[in-house]
Amino acid sequence: SVSPEELVEVAIAARAHAYCPYSDFAVGAAVETEAGRVYSGCNVENVSSGLSICGERAAVFAAVSGGERMLRALAVVTADGSMPCGACRQVLAEFAGADLPIYIATPDGAYQTLTLGELLPRPFSSPLVQ
Ligand code: THU
Repeated sequence: SVSPEELVEVAIAARAHAYCPYSDFAVGAAVETEAGRVYSGCNVENVSSGLSICGERAAVFAAVSGGERMLRALAVVTADGSMPCGACRQVLAEFAGADLPIYIATPDGAYQTLTLGELLPRPFSSPLVQ
């Protein structure tokens, strides 16, 4: 499988593709899937700002688009080691368990590890989907 350091490196590479002319805040993300594959994403902004997509969700949607619905790890890289937003946490909960390791990293490769359960302790779960 993929080491945390390797997943962080993939996220750093994806961050170079961030399209963020409005915020100038570049985000790169990479997920490892159950099958051991790696998908990446970056934030993509829009002049109509509500249409922008976060790097984390871009990576998750790339994995799902590749036919993968179970995530094993996530790396996120920002200039200051920012945490994933609430919307991305709920999207992660759709395709990962509370034990999902999340590597919060900076461009030098340094990271701290948290779990999805720590970032989103009680996700919404629809009674319509059990
Ligand atoms: N952004 C992410 O990509 N991930 C987050 O978790 C929070 C924010 C992006 C959205 C926007 O392009 C920029 O960062 C500034 O908010």
